[in-house]
Amino acid sequence: MGDPHSGLHSERGALAGEHPGRAANPVIKVHDLAWLEFEKPDLKRAEVFARAFGFTTVLSTGRELHLRGTDAGAPCVIIRKGARSKFLGPAFLAATPGDVLRLAEATGRPVARLPETLGGVVLDLPDPSGLRVRVVSDAHELPALPPQDPQQLNFGHEVRRVNATQRPPRAPALVQRLGHVVLQTTRYREALDWYLDHLGLIVSDFMYHPGQRGRGPVMSFIRCDRGATPADHHTLAMVLGPADRYVHSAYQVADLDALAAGGEYLREHGYHHSWGIGRHIEGSQLFDYWRDPDGFMVEHFSDGDLFDNTLEPGWAPLTTSGLAQWGPPATADFLGVKPGKESLRELRAVFSALREDNEFDARRLLGLLKVARS
Ligand SMILES: [Fe+2]
Repeated sequence: MGDPHSGLHSERGALAGEHPGRAANPVIKVHDLAWLEFEKPDLKRAEVFARAFGFTTVLSTGRELHLRGTDAGAPCVIIRKGARSKFLGPAFLAATPGDVLRLAEATGRPVARLPETLGGVVLDLPDPSGLRVRVVSDAHELPALPPQDPQQLNFGHEVRRVNATQRPPRAPALVQRLGHVVLQTTRYREALDWYLDHLGLIVSDFMYHPGQRGRGPVMSFIRCDRGATPADHHTLAMVLGPADRYVHSAYQVADLDALAAGGEYLREHGYHHSWGIGRHIEGSQLFDYWRDPDGFMVEHFSDGDLFDNTLEPGWAPLTTSGLAQWGPPATADFLGVKPGKESLRELRAVFSALREDNEFDARRLLGLLKVARS
């Protein structure tokens, strides 16, 4: 065995001619993901789950539910009453109010006022998959709430806790903030370029189907470009697939004990566990995945990577075993292949996606099947 690191860079970095992972001259550079919007038929049920998951209710009118974390800022999840449960789209936070205007000018779209419950202004843009993407500014800043204290840990011989016990509460893991959203799209490459060009997002990691690197990436983990100020490894992740849909969203909690004990709390209250606990590779987060009562996947995470804008994208094959450094094997529920309504819908989507003019073709289907087996 030679040096395990030799050749690592050329394998993991970009090859000549590959996607640079950022736009040369984006219209604006958004600061963060502000919130996600959903429609659901049963707001009461949604709120009961949200509290067990660790959200704090800001507004609950019977027509609308606003959920927040303990960090200062706008609510991070907005749910409106609707006939069926549906993901409406993400809202990104502009770095300055002027950026909303600049983006409006560049796209020829109007800026509108947000309702007084939120405050501020919004610009709505359709992304190439048809999803409504909002860019917001000047929303009311809710003051920070008392956060959940992290546990005082002894690390090996590095002793920080003496004459005191370790008693993490078996309680909801208090959500601090929204971290990221993952979207599946039939037009991955087109959508990727749209987000990089319009919102100035930059790619942290590209993934390709095993054996198909030459055909280009099929997934990317994308962060906000805040210059020298570090940002989450990914605020948005996008993956090529047979349907345009929400995959999951992730919320930061204090530490591993909060995540694990909060998970026990959800389990005891009869909620559906999807996958975890483990530690991811791309982003390095400790993770635990759950399903809300409407079947939307939501993630608790802690201890993720933060990158400034100097790091270049990594490149790796997309494999099931590559989803975690440690943890149980990825479940059929997490991978969306559990027999049931959702996988049937996805299978039907495969057939229509193959017929339609998009980026999901027969070779990509073979690539996807290879991912599931690896
Ligand atoms: Fe995630």
